[in-house]
Amino acid sequence: MRIQSILLVIAAVAGLVSCGPGAGKDTPPIWVFPDMKIQEKYKPQQESPLFSDRRASRKPVEGTVSREGYVEDEGYSLGIVSGQYVGKNPLELNQAVLAHGQKKFNTYCAPCHDRTASGGGIVGKRAGAAFQPADLHKPETKQKNDGELYSIASDGRRTMMGYRNQISNYDRWAVVAYLRALQRAKGATIDDVPENLRGEVR
Ligand code: HEC
Repeated sequence: MRIQSILLVIAAVAGLVSCGPGAGKDTPPIWVFPDMKIQEKYKPQQESPLFSDRRASRKPVEGTVSREGYVEDEGYSLGIVSGQYVGKNPLELNQAVLAHGQKKFNTYCAPCHDRTASGGGIVGKRAGAAFQPADLHKPETKQKNDGELYSIASDGRRTMMGYRNQISNYDRWAVVAYLRALQRAKGATIDDVPENLRGEVR
């Protein structure tokens, strides 16, 4: 075969392969290598002759609950039972829970509320007047019950966004426990310290 005819064959094959669906053409070009451009599948809202109502997208089976919408224990996961905030933290309060809550508070809440919860975190300093983290030692915050604080940490309040998706249920309850400890500690006097430990307070 002469060199000219070899070049001709190469050019013809290259021409075919490079054919994609051209704009304005009624008939699709021949695809020598369709790769995965054409797949046997239904796209949303497409019709299907398989079902009598011709919908390719089927409705979920009756009673289906999305994983996001599944609530095992209303009080534990929302902090609200029949429209009322849960009064008391469901976690057993001990040193380990408080230490865990401290870790999570310092990670997730302190950037805005600062480590003492008085609202002086770095975010508020940079954000300006429109976004000022609350001082969590205010009487009206202290008066809120555990479920309401948990609900604020979960779903936010006014300009504060919620942290339900970043912090697990357990961790948010631990944060609430630690926040209570911070609130309790702020106005504490020497009478709050057990007598045998008073000598260690400086
Ligand atoms: C990105 C900043 C930011 C983070 C992070 C943040 N907050 Fe807030 N928080 C705010 C702002 C701002 C407000 C005031 C909302 C308003 O009044 O508009 C607020 C208000 C609150 C209040 C309501 C106080 C009241 O009585 O009105 C509580 C409780 C609270 N935050 C708890 C938390 C806890 C717990 C965390 C950590 C899980 C947290 N916040 C994380 C910005 C933040």
